[in-house]
Amino acid sequence: MSNQRSQHGQWSSRFVFILAATGSAVGLGNIWKFPYMAGENGGGAFVLVYLLCIAVIGVPIMMGEILLGRRGRGSPVTSMQRVSVSESAPKGWVLLGFNGMLAGVLILSFYSVVAGWAMEFVYATASGQLADAKDGAWLDGLFQSPGRLLFWHSLFMVLTTVVIVFGVEKGLERAVKFQMPLLALMLLVLMGYSATTPGFAQGMHFLFDFDFSKLGPEAILAAMGQAFFSLSLGMGAIMVYGAYLDSEASIAKTSFAIAAFDTTVALVAGMAIFPLVYSHGLEPGAGPGLVFVTLPLAFAQMPAGIFLGTLFFSLLTLAAWTSAISLLEPVSAWFVERFGWTRRMAALVPALLIWALGVPCALSFNMLADSTIVGKTFFDLLDYATANVMLPLGGVLIALFVGWQMRSHSVAEELAWDSQSASFKIWLWLLRVVAPVAVMLIFLNAIGVLSF
Ligand code: TRP
Repeated sequence: MSNQRSQHGQWSSRFVFILAATGSAVGLGNIWKFPYMAGENGGGAFVLVYLLCIAVIGVPIMMGEILLGRRGRGSPVTSMQRVSVSESAPKGWVLLGFNGMLAGVLILSFYSVVAGWAMEFVYATASGQLADAKDGAWLDGLFQSPGRLLFWHSLFMVLTTVVIVFGVEKGLERAVKFQMPLLALMLLVLMGYSATTPGFAQGMHFLFDFDFSKLGPEAILAAMGQAFFSLSLGMGAIMVYGAYLDSEASIAKTSFAIAAFDTTVALVAGMAIFPLVYSHGLEPGAGPGLVFVTLPLAFAQMPAGIFLGTLFFSLLTLAAWTSAISLLEPVSAWFVERFGWTRRMAALVPALLIWALGVPCALSFNMLADSTIVGKTFFDLLDYATANVMLPLGGVLIALFVGWQMRSHSVAEELAWDSQSASFKIWLWLLRVVAPVAVMLIFLNAIGVLSF
């Protein structure tokens, strides 16, 4: 087993790793993206495919990704290099690491813009102004203001960079320790409130009744992409976090815990939001603004709504923050390893690039709204290309590498699993065959539709 530590430091315990990995997984993907995607793709059937993808593709790949990181003890590129050497695999596998770091850069550039919306809503709620705004008016106003969008995007990138500069123990751990439990609690309160509104039953039917006629190949691809996005899989974020994990921790149990918590948060967010959609006569398919239009309606009517609303959007910002650092960490760790830079430089350089890419993302809602490529704004294009193409591709490569390139005794050893046990064999089969085939089929199916 890999007993050495990474040069970037190490988590102080397995519990902290779970917090950090959960901090990475739980973010805007759960609270902003999952509900609006479910809304746009018809609800229940999308949710079912999403859950299947988490269980059958996501969890097995997550175990593979953590184990690669822990064995390689470095950034995705370095880990892939080291493990390829020790497993006598072709050098080309480092491309998997580069694909991941690029995906991280692209994701963070639009992610930071959305995190900025959450920050704007902290301000709007705390100052009491949101309570007086008409449905959705505040978000519309924000979208029409490039200056405000860019201001929050810039501030969020500064916050993210600062944590990366401080490094693993001091920066990342502190950020994740207190906010996760509080966020979960807030979502439960919101769900409790939504359960008292007249649209509750309708909202639940929307989320949990399967209507397969609404489920086209594009929606299936979107559900799979969302599973990767939500679990932070396929780009090396979880791999680099695995690199900071001590050798004793059980990778299998840890992966289940992370996936279970992540999925619960997404479902609870959906259960808080969709009853409100129906109670207020809104459209489930309203798009990316959904959470920012619906939840303020709840806060407007709850006792202590201003306080609870401010708390909620603050926690959402924090959740985005703990996810964002996992998008930047892989590339920063690589700059430190490759060029011997200080953490400060290694954080700052990619952060500037990401910031710059974020500018056209922010402008996609106003000045550049009509400049589309294949019918998508720059923002939508980055979102689509990363979640639906780059992450699944990275995930399949991880599955193939761990499943076929690594010796199964190294794999079993790293997982501390008996390679003859039935559970190990099932996992290996999911990784070798089921996950890659499922991803390819879903992908080809969607492409086929595009060309016919
Ligand atoms: N999973 C996070 C969310 O749901 C986003 C995220 C963080 C991510 N790190 C990632 C997505 C790595 C893909 C890959 O908000």
